Amino acid sequence: MNKIIKKQQLNATNILLQINAEDIAKKAKPGQFVMLRVKEEGERIPLTIADFDENTITIVLQVVGKSSQEIAAMDEGDEILDLLGPLGTPSEIENYGTVVMVGGGLGIAPCYPIAKAMKKAGNKVIAVLGARNKDLFFWTEEFGTVCKEVLLCTDDGSAGIKGLVTDGLKIIIEKEKVDRVVAIGPMIMMKFVTLAAGDIPTVVSLNPIMVDGMGMCGGCRVNVAGKVKFACVDGPEFIGQDVDWNSLMNRAKAYSEEEHKCRLPRE
Ligand SMILES: Cc1cc2nc3c(=O)[nH]c(=O)nc-3n(C[C@H](O)[C@H](O)[C@H](O)COP(=O)(O)OP(=O)(O)OC[C@H]3O[C@@H](n4cnc5c(N)ncnc54)[C@H](O)[C@@H]3O)c2cc1C
Ligand code: FES
Repeated sequence: MNKIIKKQQLNATNILLQINAEDIAKKAKPGQFVMLRVKEEGERIPLTIADFDENTITIVLQVVGKSSQEIAAMDEGDEILDLLGPLGTPSEIENYGTVVMVGGGLGIAPCYPIAKAMKKAGNKVIAVLGARNKDLFFWTEEFGTVCKEVLLCTDDGSAGIKGLVTDGLKIIIEKEKVDRVVAIGPMIMMKFVTLAAGDIPTVVSLNPIMVDGMGMCGGCRVNVAGKVKFACVDGPEFIGQDVDWNSLMNRAKAYSEEEHKCRLPRE
């Protein structure tokens, strides 16, 4: 049950874990996530299903604090104590025409299954992927097999264009008609991609604090098109043009003191 069958260091900050989880894998759809806990006294944290096949799910992890450190310390053959999912509403996949997938940093991973599904639905898929430097990219070849074009953007110009994903998106929008944008990455990136896309519907995958992941605690509430939504059950994907970014970002800061404490070493 829930055995880690593959662990791969993708780059300095991201680790891939492929986990045997037949029941979840059989039901998983692009855009969904799992809640994962590695020990009795540990917390459950949400992680996106970055890929899946008949029997396994793949997650890509960035180590930021205590729980992600504990997961990163696990090895092939170890078992995850609790794995709950698939959770969340799957991505809306239709034939829109031309779809641009914008992935920033860790957000590159969850873009991949959506890009594959968008291609399968008949879309022309273009990827704009961003990282601080060339060593932080992963899966660029995999994106190449699914996308008509993959435009890399780096802060230092070490790969692709020197600039942000918003610069990359503007280059694509100037040269062709884009029907839909999907942006996944840090909150601030998704906000600015939405602004850069103008009136092109832009799907964003929100990552507020989630406690139960099942719509009961209210921790993940967001204001979307003037209504209160729970990102764990109504999302995590929403149309970026409808999201109240200011209230979302203010709420994200609410627990920063406690999260800092969480990063401190414990016995
Ligand atoms: C729907 C969703 C999908 C996600 N997918 C991924 C993924 O695929 N890979 C990945 O590495 N990370 C993902 N995250 C973020 C991941 O859940 C947090 O990085 C993790 O919970 C951090 O826990 P920690 O104890 O290591 O760090 P902490 O020190 O506790 O926190 C570090 C930062 O992580 C965020 N965070 C902390 N606890 C939670 C929580 N319960 N829910 C949401 N965010 C939290 C906060 O922004 C916080 O500032 C996702 C979050 C959401 C909501
Ligand atoms: S995480 Fe509890 S309501 Fe969404």
